[in-house]
Amino acid sequence: MSRIGLLGAMDEEIALLLADMDKAETTVKAGITYVTGTLHGKSVVVCKSGVGKVNAAVTTQILIDTFGIDTVLFTGVAGAVHPDLEIGDIVISTSCVQHDMDVTALGFPRGVIPYQETSEFKADNKLIALAEEACNKINEGRYMKGKVLSGDQFISSREVVKMLHEELGGACAEMEGAAVAQVCHMNDIPFVILRSMSDKADGSAHINFAEFTVEASRRSHQILDYMVRNL
Ligand code: ADE
Repeated sequence: MSRIGLLGAMDEEIALLLADMDKAETTVKAGITYVTGTLHGKSVVVCKSGVGKVNAAVTTQILIDTFGIDTVLFTGVAGAVHPDLEIGDIVISTSCVQHDMDVTALGFPRGVIPYQETSEFKADNKLIALAEEACNKINEGRYMKGKVLSGDQFISSREVVKMLHEELGGACAEMEGAAVAQVCHMNDIPFVILRSMSDKADGSAHINFAEFTVEASRRSHQILDYMVRNL
C-alpha cells in the first residue's frame, strides 16, 4: 500500500495534520518523532523535521528507510523572493536549490554542488499539478510555481533577496526544502514542497514571520489536505 510522508519544520506547520489524522503509532528515531496512521483513509507518516537542512535530510532518509514512504509532501512557510508574491501566497516547488552552497571560489556558480550531475532537484509533475488544482480551489488562485531556495539562514535583507531572485531565479527562501528534495532525488521518491509566504525576507521579516506564521501555515496545510484527499 502506498504511504505518504508529510513533513513540516516547526510545530505550527504540522499541528493541523496531527489534529486531523487517525494515529496508530508514535516512534522516535534520531530525536525526531514520527507519527504513523491514516488521513482521509490514506496511510501517512507525519513528522516535524526541525529547522535546517541537516534535520530535513536526516528526517527524509528515515521516512524512506524505516517507514517505507513513497511520496513526500512538505508543508510550511517561507520568505517571498519573487517581487510579485504577497504574504499569504503559496509557492509550489517546480525545483529546489541550496542557495548557501557556495563554491564560487573554485569557479562553480552559486548553488552548484561540485562534481554532481545536478544541483537543482525537480519536483514531481503530477504532485505539482495536484497542488495547482488545490490552490485554484482553495487559495483563490494566489499561488506561483517556482524555484524554492533553501539555506541555513533566515533571510532578512533586500539585497540578499535581490541576489536570490536575479542570480538564482528563486521564488521563495526557506531552510529545508532543497535538503528534502535532494534526499528524494537520491532515493527516486516523488516530492513537492508547498510554502505559504509568512514574510518578504526583508528588514521586517522577523516581525512578519512572528505575526503571520500561524495563518500562513494554515493556508499551506489546506492545500496539502486537499492533496492527500485526492492522491
Ligand atoms: N521561513 C520563513 N521566512 C523565512 C525567511 N525570511 N528566511 C528563511 N526561511 C524562512
